Amino acid sequence: MTFKTDFLWGGATAANQLEGAYDIDGKGLSVADAMPGGKERLAILASPEFDWTIDTEHFTYPNHDGIDHYHHFKEDIALFAEMGFKAYRFSVAWSRIFPKGDETTPNEKGLLFYDQLIDECLKYRIEPVITISHYEMPLNLAKSYGGWKNRELIEFYVRFAKVLLERYQDKVKYWMTFNEINSATFFSGLSQGLVPSNGGDDKTNVFKAWHNQFVASAQAVKFGHDLNKNLKLGCMSIYSTTYSFDANPVNQLATQESIQEFNYFCNDVQVRGAYPAFTNRLHRKHGVNSEVLEISEEDLKIIAEGTVDYIGFSYYMSTVESKTGEGVQASGNMVLGGVKNPFLKESEWGWAIDPDGLRYALNDLYGRYQIPLFIVENGLGAIDKVEEDGTIQDDYRIDYLKKHIQSMSEAVEDGVELMGYTPWGCIDLVSASTGEMSKRYGFIYVDLDDSGNGTNKRFKKKSFDWYKQVIDSNGTNL
Ligand code: BG6
Repeated sequence: MTFKTDFLWGGATAANQLEGAYDIDGKGLSVADAMPGGKERLAILASPEFDWTIDTEHFTYPNHDGIDHYHHFKEDIALFAEMGFKAYRFSVAWSRIFPKGDETTPNEKGLLFYDQLIDECLKYRIEPVITISHYEMPLNLAKSYGGWKNRELIEFYVRFAKVLLERYQDKVKYWMTFNEINSATFFSGLSQGLVPSNGGDDKTNVFKAWHNQFVASAQAVKFGHDLNKNLKLGCMSIYSTTYSFDANPVNQLATQESIQEFNYFCNDVQVRGAYPAFTNRLHRKHGVNSEVLEISEEDLKIIAEGTVDYIGFSYYMSTVESKTGEGVQASGNMVLGGVKNPFLKESEWGWAIDPDGLRYALNDLYGRYQIPLFIVENGLGAIDKVEEDGTIQDDYRIDYLKKHIQSMSEAVEDGVELMGYTPWGCIDLVSASTGEMSKRYGFIYVDLDDSGNGTNKRFKKKSFDWYKQVIDSNGTNL
C-alpha cells in the first residue's frame, strides 16, 4: 500500500466561487464580487480602465450567487461524506468576517456560518482544511488601500487570521495562509488586489505586495504555532512542471530561471524563511527598485520565525520554455505562458494534461524542501453533458484523475512524503479565470448555466462512485 493510512482524500473549493449570498448577513463586497463573468474576465481585469467598479448594466457577476452553497452546505457536505471524504478544503470569505477589511471587531454572523460549516464536516469526521485567503479580499482594501502593496494590509490580514485561528484551533488542524501566492507572477488581480489602475502593471508593486504577504503569512503562522502546537500551517502555490523546448543551453537556462521565479521564489521564502539567492537578479529582471520594497531587518526576522509546516500546492498542467522562440505559443485561459508540448493533449481550455509532470513536481518539491506535501488542487475543467436518462458520463475526468493518482503513487514510492489529495471543485462551481459554470471540475453536477439559470439541483456524476471507490481502497482501486 503506497498511501499512508491517514491520507487526506477529499476535495477543494473556495468561498467566492461557490458560497453565493454575497451580500447576506453583513458580508461586505470582495474583489471577487467585482469580477465579471465570461472568458474575457482576466483580460477585463488587466485592462487600464478596470477600477473594481461593479457594472451590472454591462456585465454579469456569477460569483454573487455561486452555487448558493451558503444555503446548501449541509446537502453538499452530506454528498462529500457519501464519497468518503477524509478532508474538505475550503476558504473563508474575508469580507464575511471583516466586511470592509479595516474594522477591529469581526462580524459575528459571518463567523456563525463557518461555525456551522465546520461542525457539519466534523459530524462526518471530515477534517476541515482552511485557506485563510483564497483569491479575494474585502473590495475596500483594493479600492481605498490599493491592495497588498499597502503595508496596512498586514495588520488587517493578521487580525482576520487570528480571529479564525483562535476560534477554530480545537476543530481545525490544517491551515493555509494564501491561495496560490505565486500567481501574481503572471496576474496580480486575484491574489493581491492589484490591477493596472492601482499599480498592478508595475512589478515593483507586485514584489512589494508579495513582501507584505510574506510578512503577514509568517505572523499568522507564528501566531498559530504559539497558540496551539497541534496546528499545521502551510503555504500554497501553483506548481507548473517546466520543460525546456530542447537541449539548447539557452533554453535550458531560461527554463531554470523560470522555475526559480515561478515554482521556487515564494516557497523559498515561506518554507526556508529567507529570500533566495536569486532574488536580486529577479528584481533586476523586472526593473524592481528594491529600496521601495521596505524590507526591514524586523520583517526578515518575522519571515524567519514564521516558516510553514507543509507545502500545499495546485497542479493542473506543465509548460514548455522556449527562449529561442521555437515552438507554437500555448493558448488558453490562465495558462502560464510558454509553447505547446507536442507530446501532450490539452483540455478544452488549452491546459496541457501531464500526469507524469505531477510525479516530477512532487519529487522536485520534496527534494528541495524536505517537508510534507499536500496536493490541494488538481483536476480537469471540462464541459459535461447530461444524458437523456439524467446521468453524466464523465469518463474523461476519471481518466485524468486516475492517471494523476497513479503518478502520486509512484512519487510516494520514490520516497516523497505526501499528506493528502483534494481535487479542485469537487462540486461544480464558478471558474476563477473565466467566471463560467460550464468549466466543470466536480464529482457532483450542479444544474446552473453560465448565466445562472437552472434548478441549482445537485446530481452525482459517474466520477462520484469512482472516487468513492478510490477513497475506500486508499488509492489502490483505480
Ligand atoms: C486555481 C485556483 O488556480 O485553479 C482556483 O486556486 C481555480 O480558484 C482553479 O478555480 C481552476 O481554475 P479555473 O480558472 O478553471 O477555475
